[in-house]
Amino acid sequence: MIGIIGALEEEVNLIKNELTDKKDLFISGSIYTVGKLFNKEVVITKCGVGKVFSAIAAEVMALKFNVECIINTGVAGALSENLSVNDLAIASSVVQHDMDTSPLGDPKGLISGINVINFDADENLIKKLEKVAKELNVNYEKGVIATGDQFISDKAKKEEIKNSFNAIACEMEGGAIGHVAFVNRIPFIVIRTISDNANGDAKVDFPKFLTLATRTLYRLTKRFLELY
Ligand code: ADE
Repeated sequence: MIGIIGALEEEVNLIKNELTDKKDLFISGSIYTVGKLFNKEVVITKCGVGKVFSAIAAEVMALKFNVECIINTGVAGALSENLSVNDLAIASSVVQHDMDTSPLGDPKGLISGINVINFDADENLIKKLEKVAKELNVNYEKGVIATGDQFISDKAKKEEIKNSFNAIACEMEGGAIGHVAFVNRIPFIVIRTISDNANGDAKVDFPKFLTLATRTLYRLTKRFLELY
């Protein structure tokens, strides 16, 4: 079974509507819809915004549904100058930009105990997604995606995250999903279309471009699942 996690209704609905033989299960506060797409078993959930909700969803996918991989779909703020609204950011790895034990001598973003900063996304899944982006003519960049429990809408904060982690985009779930996938040894991928530039305009751009960006996200995710 393939697991799909998105934070918002808009980030999961279009692809969820494509499933056949659907069945809903209510677990730990969220609905998990199990169904079929292109003859593959899929489970999809709208987990809610942020690292805790997305970690719960990833753990449920691991333990209750025994998924073979986790796909995190959603929108992101662009940090890289190569990315504009409606482009695709593919995570080569994810980091948690708000994890910080640097006063104790650790590098920023280090997850103590497992001593990891970057959680690597699955190479084969990335290759598949790159192929899909080329086929659908969607401009994309592959690189580090930075996650934190903050909506970034400030130029100074944007530059800080970009420079600290060499990150191309920011969002609020991928780093938590990568963390849970890592400890459960499950391959994962993060598919994020750009809704804003994580600057002073982001609070206007995000609602303005959400529909456009999630439509492209849907097209990419659907074709990705077809080729999976
Ligand atoms: N998701 C989409 N845009 C974002 C931003 N600017 N900050 C955090 N998460 C986002």
